[in-house]
Amino acid sequence: MRASNLSDPSEQVSFATAIRKGLGRDRGLYFPDAIPKLQDVRGLLVADPHTRAVAVLDALVGDEIPTDALRGIVTRAFTWDTPLVPVTDRICALELYWGPTLAFKDYGARFMAEALAHLHGGERVTILTATSGDTGAAVAHAFAGAPGIDCVVLYPQGRISRLQEQLFCTIGGNVHTVAVDGTFDDCQALVKQAFDDPALRARHGLNSANSINLARLVAQVTYFFEAAARLPFDARERAVYCVPSGNFGDLTAGLMARAMGLPARRFITATNANDTVPRYLATGTWEPRDTVQTLSNAMDVSVPSNWPRVQALMRTQGWALDDLGRGVVSDAATEDAIRRLHGLGYLSEPHGAVAFAVLERELTDGEVGVFLCTAHPAKFKETVDRVLGMELPLPPALAARAELPLLSQRIAPRLAEVLAVLEAL
Ligand SMILES: Cc1ncc(COP(=O)(O)O)c(C=O)c1O
Repeated sequence: MRASNLSDPSEQVSFATAIRKGLGRDRGLYFPDAIPKLQDVRGLLVADPHTRAVAVLDALVGDEIPTDALRGIVTRAFTWDTPLVPVTDRICALELYWGPTLAFKDYGARFMAEALAHLHGGERVTILTATSGDTGAAVAHAFAGAPGIDCVVLYPQGRISRLQEQLFCTIGGNVHTVAVDGTFDDCQALVKQAFDDPALRARHGLNSANSINLARLVAQVTYFFEAAARLPFDARERAVYCVPSGNFGDLTAGLMARAMGLPARRFITATNANDTVPRYLATGTWEPRDTVQTLSNAMDVSVPSNWPRVQALMRTQGWALDDLGRGVVSDAATEDAIRRLHGLGYLSEPHGAVAFAVLERELTDGEVGVFLCTAHPAKFKETVDRVLGMELPLPPALAARAELPLLSQRIAPRLAEVLAVLEAL
């Protein structure tokens, strides 16, 4: 793959460099210079899921990872199924939450860990990341046991849910969890300070594994082909994909899939009240407002980090922004969608429900809808229990972890303390 920095196209990098560096100069995003067209999409859609994922990733990554090695990476990374579940006679849920941390992030994080381990030439690699709960869990699980790689996750002490903490602070080994006496912003600031020191970065081979990493994005392209493969043959060209959007990584991945030849009629982005993009699509004016807190809190983003990638892709493909559907869902409408889905026999958490609400509203005659379900309902248990007046059981992966001892160390929010953690690895 040849990729460029969207803020400074003179910076051109390979896939390996893009995933090692994460962000380019001036915090620019890397994006492939060209999106390859798949040769035999029909054939691919009747292949088995691993063969399909290998073909998609092989086309995107190119010869930097030989196909055989890629097959190994995919087989080790994606060890769960991606069900497409009918919810009404023409709407299906694409369940992306059957990985180890019960959220769609497992695809990207696991693929990135395997790809980095493969491309790793014996140099030191330390994943250093801050989390407000969820991303840290996906990254920690993905890198657990990765040869030659240490993973350090900072999180705000007492400010993540007990269950979230149990999920990733009980792993041990090469996963080092650090409870910081401060806020999530303090954790992020510490990570940023560490990355701002080139000598430190080089000495520890720091990599943040955050969601803008190209490895994570390319992995997410694969599940759109999984959805198409599971639709009836005659529905594929009529399929409308509705993507719950925060930082717009999933939407970017979906549009990349489309550029590669995914059969689809159109894409719709669904947001909560943080609606910078839908307003931009309606008015042509980019006007981020203060972020507001909603029930679908992983989408409480007013300046979506992947939006420059969406724009670059639309431009190079010659697609009009107008072709992108859009919808905004209030908390009240989210709750209503959770209840309506439950009435249809489907259990959803708020993010999937936002996508369902928009899809139901936007779907026209002759279209078939797919909405992305990005997290297991149990990950948003409090909301689901309250809205549905029930007590959701914990899935076995969470229940087993809930009993294990926490292995975190506690530090004050000071760079010197983070450095001490890194030096002690
Ligand atoms: C559960 C859930 N749904 C949806 C999203 C939004 O995805 P994206 O940031 O790719 O738009 C996120 C982002 O973290 C999430 O955690």
